Amino acid sequence: MPEHEQELSVETIAVSAGRPPAGPNQPLNAPIVPASAFHAGGDIEYAREAAPTTSALEAAIGALEHGSAVAFSSGMAAANAAMDLVPSGAVVVAPSAAYTGVAVRLRELDAIGRIVLRIVEADDTDAVVAACVGAHLLWLESPTNPLMQVADLPACITGAHAAGAMVLVDNTFATPILQNPLDLGADLVLHSVTKALGGHSDLMLGALVARDADLAERVRIRRVLLGAAPSAFDCYLALRGIRTLAIRVERAQQNAREITARLVGHPALDRVRYPGFGTMAAIDVAGGADAAETACASVRVWTHATSLGGVESLLERRRRWPLESSRVPEGLVRLSFGIEGVEDLWTDLDRALRTTL
Ligand SMILES: Cc1ncc(COP(=O)(O)O)c(C=O)c1O
Repeated sequence: MPEHEQELSVETIAVSAGRPPAGPNQPLNAPIVPASAFHAGGDIEYAREAAPTTSALEAAIGALEHGSAVAFSSGMAAANAAMDLVPSGAVVVAPSAAYTGVAVRLRELDAIGRIVLRIVEADDTDAVVAACVGAHLLWLESPTNPLMQVADLPACITGAHAAGAMVLVDNTFATPILQNPLDLGADLVLHSVTKALGGHSDLMLGALVARDADLAERVRIRRVLLGAAPSAFDCYLALRGIRTLAIRVERAQQNAREITARLVGHPALDRVRYPGFGTMAAIDVAGGADAAETACASVRVWTHATSLGGVESLLERRRRWPLESSRVPEGLVRLSFGIEGVEDLWTDLDRALRTTL
């Protein structure tokens, strides 16, 4: 990170990082460079290793997370690269209900003997730390998707390090606007850039951000060998999205706080899961799976779709995905708050929930 960026606020970094150097005839924005190969003799040779638009995005994400970023073709590509870093037979500690793709992949790797998986509840700090004895990697999400459990990151990271384990934090839900795990001691941060960083539900990208340059280089080699390089166009779109990240997160968080507060005690709900910060929440619909599906099918302002982190508010019943963890209640509906007017969101959600009564 350039030295002056260390003093800038996260809002300013989101707007300014990853731009071309200032000067006459220089564009303000990183250009889309659709080349797979570059003239020999320079720093950039082949786009799976490095490319100008990708490097601009990596500079921006690295500045936001206070580390060295490597971009991938999706969040899952980044996750697989991180899993590839551990030696054969290594113990990996992970939450009971991590993002489905990550949880399923870790279970697959365990089943073929590539890793030994230890499952913990992310909000049970003592259990997390105890499970790290003899482990190579602690994989955390905080808040978790979709149970919204919050991990005590400083305590878990300190405990994992004392046991000799490396720590990865998936920061997709919190975003670098609200939480910087590397500052709390984590070794790696994972992002599904597809989500809030992109912010407009129009791209697929991932990133790993490392605290030290050697680890970043190991991550970059994983991208090269796994072939998970992003497209220049998607990197451009993500950079464009990042420019408004701070204001989008601020507004979506306002909506999340207001609406989850109103939802507490709603007759159609058993439980509201919101940790008090962020743009994500989950609600347990009292009538179970059928009632939850009815509510999701009844919205008009909200959109019934998977994914999260876009300007539009999305909701879905997570157990409609057959591979979702059985720890997630059948009637749990995940809410991704967008930036629409709060009264429109409330009126629509309240009405949709009341159709289940
Ligand atoms: C917390 C979290 N991590 C990782 C991923 C995977 O990212 P992608 O869908 O970009 O591959 C997701 C996707 O939903 C996610 O929610």
